[in-house]
Amino acid sequence: MKRTKLAVFASGSGSNYEAIVKACCEGLINAEVVLLVCDKPGAKVLERAARYGTECFAFNPKEYGSREEYEGVIADMLDERGVEYVCLAGYMRIVGRVLLERYEQRIVNIHPSLLPSFKGAHAIQDAVDYGVKIFGVTTHFVDETLDGGRIIDQGAVVYEGSDIEELTTMIHNIEHKLYVKTINKLINKKY
Ligand code: GAR
Repeated sequence: MKRTKLAVFASGSGSNYEAIVKACCEGLINAEVVLLVCDKPGAKVLERAARYGTECFAFNPKEYGSREEYEGVIADMLDERGVEYVCLAGYMRIVGRVLLERYEQRIVNIHPSLLPSFKGAHAIQDAVDYGVKIFGVTTHFVDETLDGGRIIDQGAVVYEGSDIEELTTMIHNIEHKLYVKTINKLINKKY
């Protein structure tokens, strides 16, 4: 059976990238990651991608005149490889209209909070600071706003401790499973 082609965009550690690739290898998702896009040359995700043999496009946005310019380059790469869905996995950058128009309703993101609460780059810390007791993870379609777009899946965890590292690990574990569930929904068009 034909495997769906995915691209993963990441800026950091890449644990979600790895969870997706592993799920593909283990047959939990009938898909393959054909391209990793990274806007931070030197990010740890690139080491992980090398280990799994995923083709990488690492770029420095400052070397392009505009977002439209680098997104045009990326969109062409996605098209050439027949990518059907783009999974943002810790890609700390707003996606602009070039990619959103070419991949309408085909770009999804994962975020470590119960959206629409606690958008942004420090969601877990922000939720802790606010006194939250029910934490969570959200996957959603991507629009042109920060962590915005229609929700696909959510997962929650009750945590009343004070160890942010422990909490972060719990949230990451939820993320890794939730992304697999969401990608299966995309592939089966059940969202
Ligand atoms: C994940 O927790 C992801 O939800 C978050 O970045 C982390 C990346 O971890 N994304 C956002 O905060 C998006 N606003 P990873 O590099 O280990 O996958």
